[in-house]
Order: sequence, then C-alpha cells, then structure tokens
Amino acid sequence: MAHLRCNVEECGTTLDLHDRALACPKCDELLEVAIEPAKADPADLKRQWLARRASYEPCNASGVWRFREFLPDCYGEGIVTLSEGNVPLVRGQRAARWAGVKNIWFKHLGWNPTGSFKDLGMTAGMTEAKFLGVQTVACASTGNTAASLAAYAARAGVVGRVYLPAGQASANKLAQALDFGAEIVQIEGSFDDALETLLGTADPTLYFLNSINPFRIEGQKTAIFELLEQFGWRPPDYLVVPGGNLGNSSAFGKAFTELKKYGFIEKVPRMIIVQAAGANPLARMWAAGSKQLRAVDRPETVATAIRIGNPRSWKKALRAIEFTRGLVMDVTDDEIGEAKAAIGRDGIGCEPASATTLAGIRKLVNAGALDRDATIAAVLTGHALKDTDYIIKTHQQAQGREPVTTCSH
Ligand code: F0G
Repeated sequence: MAHLRCNVEECGTTLDLHDRALACPKCDELLEVAIEPAKADPADLKRQWLARRASYEPCNASGVWRFREFLPDCYGEGIVTLSEGNVPLVRGQRAARWAGVKNIWFKHLGWNPTGSFKDLGMTAGMTEAKFLGVQTVACASTGNTAASLAAYAARAGVVGRVYLPAGQASANKLAQALDFGAEIVQIEGSFDDALETLLGTADPTLYFLNSINPFRIEGQKTAIFELLEQFGWRPPDYLVVPGGNLGNSSAFGKAFTELKKYGFIEKVPRMIIVQAAGANPLARMWAAGSKQLRAVDRPETVATAIRIGNPRSWKKALRAIEFTRGLVMDVTDDEIGEAKAAIGRDGIGCEPASATTLAGIRKLVNAGALDRDATIAAVLTGHALKDTDYIIKTHQQAQGREPVTTCSH
C-alpha cells in the first residue's frame, strides 16, 4: 500500500497516504509518496502500458494513469482527467546542428491540454483533492500551474484560486486561468512572495496544489515512463530539463530511482538541470560546491515561468542530480532567446523557459563538456503560445522594425 513518508531517509517519518500534511511533522522537510507496486514484472507491465494506448477508457487514455501501477491508485472512476500525457518525442535536427551535437530529441510536454507539463501533476493532485472532498484548491504560480489548476478545478467542480506575482505572468497564461473560471489573487512581489503568502494563509479548507504537494510529483514522474517507452526502454545518455521551483526535476529523479529499483532500466541518463542566470540559486550552489542553498533575492529573467529565487524542492532535485551523476548550470537571457529561435526553426516552438535546455546543451558542447555523439533528450515544458508577447518583442528588436509587414491594396 502506498503511504506518505518524509523525503529525508534518515528521518524516516511515515504518514497515511491521505494525510493532508505538506511537510514532515517531525523535521519539516517535504513529503513524498512511497510506492510499492503490487505487480512489477517489467516485461509484463511495459506491454500493458503500451497496450492501454489503444483503449478509450479514461484511465487508459490518460498518459499519466496508464502507468497507474506506480501511482497511488485507489481512485477507480474518480480520476479527474483531460487525457493528459501521451505527447510525442520529436527529433530536433536543426536544433542539434545549432548546438553542435548529432542527436537531440525533444519531449514536448507543452503539447498537453493546457500547454504545459503541469497537467501531468495536476491530474494526480486534483484527483486526490476530489477524493478528500475539498471545496477549494489553491496554488501560487508564475502562470502555468495557475492555468492548469484552473482547468482541472473546473473539471472537478471545485473552486480554483491562484496567487500570481502582479504583472509578471504572461497575458496568455492569465487569460487561461480566467477562461477556466479561477479566482485570481495578485501579489506585489515575486513568485516566492506569492507562495509565501499562500502558505501563510491559515485557511484549513484550502488544499494546496503547488509542486510541494507529493501527488503532483507522482503525476509528473510519468513523463519519464513515457519518454523511456518511446526510447524502447533504452535510456538516452542525457536528460536536460529547465529548473525553477525544482519540482519537475525532483519528479524525474524519483521516476529514475523507482524504475531502476524495480528492474525496468539498467542505467539512468545523466540529468542536467538548467536555470536562468538571473534566477539560479541551485546553479550557484552547484558551482560553489556547497550543500546549502542561498536564495536569490530578486530573481530576474525573460523566462518568467522560472523567475524563482527560492526553490522549495531543491533538496529533492539535488538528490536526483547525485543519483543520475548529473549537473546543474545556468544560461543567460540572450542564450535563451537564441535557443528558442533555433527550436522555432525546427517547426517545434516552445516558451522561453523550455529553451534553457537547448541553450544549456550548446554551452556544454562549446565548453567541451558534452560528447557530440551522445543521445540527448531535452524536455520542453511549455507551448510556444504561452508567451506570445515575448516572441513579438524579440523579433521586433532583432529587425529594428515591426515584425509583420503590412501591404495596402
Ligand atoms: N518550465 C515551465 C514552462 C514552467 O512553467 C516551470 C514552472 C518550469 C519550467 C520549472 O519547473 O518549477 O518544477 O522546476 N512553472 C511554475 C508555475 C513555477 O507556477 O507555473 P519546476
């Protein structure tokens, strides 16, 4: 039976799966879901997971719930789903040439129902919320979590409340949250301030759906199951992922740990977390060889999705990096812009935060730190249409004129 446990092994505290705590009552560290799959024959399950793609049953049609043997599955018909997941792995040929490597595969999690990877976690978190019978769910967000929470709250028939840093989320993401009927609370300050405000809200009826919620992590973990399935269960050499609040990299680390432990894969890819240079607390800590994170006070980057100075899941993410023998790095806003344009030239597109991945790959190649023949998977986390202002502004600047020509007739 799945249960909650403190993510710090030495602490060892365990809780009931449906305890609503977000932190360990003993040491205040984050919790995680402890999974012990009842049936874990790798060959059997790999076959079943793939076979479920041919089914229209909601729990099979979801690219999250088809991996339910590794999820806290006790919800039966009660899952809250928008058929998330099952997104393609697309080869980036021009992008690879631009970065100086042979093989880059983009796992485009931006091609999910609300345009970001958040949907993978939200189906799991919202399903748990509905199971608990809560009436109001809430998150702080740079925009994508807000859009996703709003959609899944609507789906579950509960109130969604989102705390956004005032004037900092892209208009497209704000529009999504409005469209799905969420209550919007604007907070003066950064994402970190918004999260602090939300966590300080002493309202016991609110259910928190930020990525410190362990159920969110369980859903996001399945992106790796699907990615490995698409690679025929032969893991790539590297997995490159953008880092903000570091929930996603934590989720990916958990997936690799469990799949290795139960014999689904023999090796794990080296995970590279890429942060924006203006919002890079983990990259700084890594470069300094330290084990203590120092928050960045006023995070600043064009990649607004990852404008985060005090990531909550950094210890889990660091463990993932250690487990996969990976590394943490940062890239500048200019590098992000160039990489984003290169991904666009492949006809793929993404939002700026996702382009940190390709920028990071190129930077490592230029430094001689990445083998050009390696197989690299880069995770694109958000859709190109998530931040259209950014695209139009950068093209305007590059051309020194209006990016669109108007002809009169
Ligand atoms: N990429 C995109 C497009 C994001 O929206 C986020 C986070 C990340 C990467 C970083 O993921 O936080 O798990 O390390 N967006 C959050 C939000 C914070 O509120 O939408 P992370």
